[in-house]
Amino acid sequence: MPYDESILRRARERFEAEREECRKTLEGRRENAYFRQPRLREIETELRKTSGQVLAAALRRGGDPRQAAEELRKRNLSLQDEKKALLKQMRLPADYLSEKPACPLCGDSGYLDDGRMCQCLLDYCAKEQKKELSKMLDLGAQSFDSFSLRWYSTRTDGEQGMSPRANMEGVYEACEDYARHFKPDSGNLLFFGSVGLGKTFLSAAIAREVSAAGYSVVYDTAAHVFRQFEAEKFDRNEGADRDVSRVLRCDLLILDDLGTEMRTAFTISALYQIVNTRLMERRSTILNTNLEPCELSERYSPQIASRIEGEYQILSFFGEDIRQLRKDNDGQPPY
Ligand SMILES: Nc1ncnc2c1ncn2[C@@H]1O[C@H](COP(=O)(O)OP(=O)(O)OP(=O)(O)O)[C@@H](O)[C@H]1O
Ligand SMILES: [Mg+2]
Ligand SMILES: [Zn+2]
Repeated sequence: MPYDESILRRARERFEAEREECRKTLEGRRENAYFRQPRLREIETELRKTSGQVLAAALRRGGDPRQAAEELRKRNLSLQDEKKALLKQMRLPADYLSEKPACPLCGDSGYLDDGRMCQCLLDYCAKEQKKELSKMLDLGAQSFDSFSLRWYSTRTDGEQGMSPRANMEGVYEACEDYARHFKPDSGNLLFFGSVGLGKTFLSAAIAREVSAAGYSVVYDTAAHVFRQFEAEKFDRNEGADRDVSRVLRCDLLILDDLGTEMRTAFTISALYQIVNTRLMERRSTILNTNLEPCELSERYSPQIASRIEGEYQILSFFGEDIRQLRKDNDGQPPY
């Protein structure tokens, strides 16, 4: 679950801000209640004095500590009762002025006793990550539910030996199954096919599900990621280091438009580093490309191609360009 630092930082900020909001609400209530019933302030002030202070005072007076403790307990109880009675008179619930943590699991610290992050803070992380992914992907519109098979013809494609529709049914099922049962070591997918066939759409649908399940997901274009790797190598600044580690360490990396970047020795070695490191560390990756799998070896390297062929589930997309079909059919699926 390694969320990257910037997501963690923003999640923590939100988390703190919301806690602060709760504290302020309680403070407002308290002032309001004290205004209506000043005795409440006296009671709460006395209750807030630590029992240590009261005990020490009793001892200073030369009393018996056990007796002093007993008196203190009684005094506390009677103050609590008085407070409850006053609140009742004011038609307020008995716990109106108590500080209850919003999360009983971690007492609003965000972390459990064993040092793990609490679900409440993890939820903030997932929310921040969704915002981040939404900058690049249309997570609102592109989901498994909104995916339509009616953009894919039912006529058999001679070369492929099946119809785009039948092929897409299989691809859709594989993607949905992958997303629903995702674990960081679930394995890898390669989407290949020509333009406008739903590769980015299905990547968004997967990103959405996997992110909602609490895993760290990074989506980016290959060209942009390679630029980040370049910056890490040549500019050596902290931001670039973080970008690279986020790409290498997230639970699911989706690298889109592979093959549209400038081909240089650097991009080849960066892709090798990404594919190889993530395989070795058993983290999952999805690659999207317009290249045929057999072109990978030539464009990148035989080492990269062999890893992809051996370790990725390869899903072929074919049919007609949906961007074009939309235009030609007034946005309505023709099949
Ligand atoms: N099954 C589908 N149902 C509805 N809309 C779809 C579907 N598949 C794709 N689209 C829409 O068609 C357009 C092209 O899809 P997408 O961007 O996923 O193609 P792509 O395969 O990633 O293409 P490219 O290789 O050019 O990146 C988008 O507007 C997308 O929302
Ligand atoms: Mg795309
Ligand atoms: Zn919590």
